[in-house]
Amino acid sequence: MVWRLETKRLLLRVPAPFDVAEIVALIGDYDVAKNLSRVPHPYRETDARGWIEAMAEARFQGTEYAFAITRKEDDAYLGSIGLHKREDAFEFGYWLGKPFWKQGYATEAARRLVAFAFMELGLERLIAGYFHDNPASGHVLEKLGCVPDGMDHRDCLSRGHAVYCHKVVLTRDNFWKKKAA
Ligand SMILES: CC(C)(COP(=O)(O)OP(=O)(O)OC[C@H]1O[C@@H](n2cnc3c(N)ncnc32)[C@H](O)[C@@H]1OP(=O)(O)O)[C@@H](O)C(=O)NCCC(=O)NCCS
Repeated sequence: MVWRLETKRLLLRVPAPFDVAEIVALIGDYDVAKNLSRVPHPYRETDARGWIEAMAEARFQGTEYAFAITRKEDDAYLGSIGLHKREDAFEFGYWLGKPFWKQGYATEAARRLVAFAFMELGLERLIAGYFHDNPASGHVLEKLGCVPDGMDHRDCLSRGHAVYCHKVVLTRDNFWKKKAA
């Protein structure tokens, strides 16, 4: 299996212990954490270390595939993206540090991750979700070819309560159709 995925501007690679300081600085921003379900706030170095270790084990078990999103031009750590096994499908999710928002990086990284899921892991269908007050992520998912699949309440660690969440599904066919359009 290849653990380095390239796009025009980005390199997605396995997160490593030397990323800890950048992860803490970027995901420690409440505006990032509040849109994710499993990220505590405040976020400490031990959280980042624990996450990196857990992701190495989960990759080995085949239950989670996490990638650091880095910029080829200067090696900057922009954020993370990954696939997480749930009961009936893999779910994908992503985040970028605030200085890197609105430059098309999430869409570029997500397209590559999804292609990896469909082509290299051989999956037929992925799921994702975004909180009701996070339209930017909803737009990223729509650009990929995701379609609505109901709503539910999902726990959000940083907010300390469950949040209304839009669920979406992405089939292999819809992804390629959208990409070709
Ligand atoms: C959501 C997030 C990943 C988007 O990253 P990004 O790199 O800025 O996304 P992109 O630039 O690829 O695309 C964002 C799209 O949403 C649009 N957008 C931005 N803010 C928006 C808003 N408030 N309402 C609707 N659309 C919005 C942008 O215009 C862009 O669309 P366009 O390419 O058609 O112009 C980033 O803001 C983030 O990391 N937020 C915190 C964590 C998070 O929300 N993760 C996702 C959890 S589901």
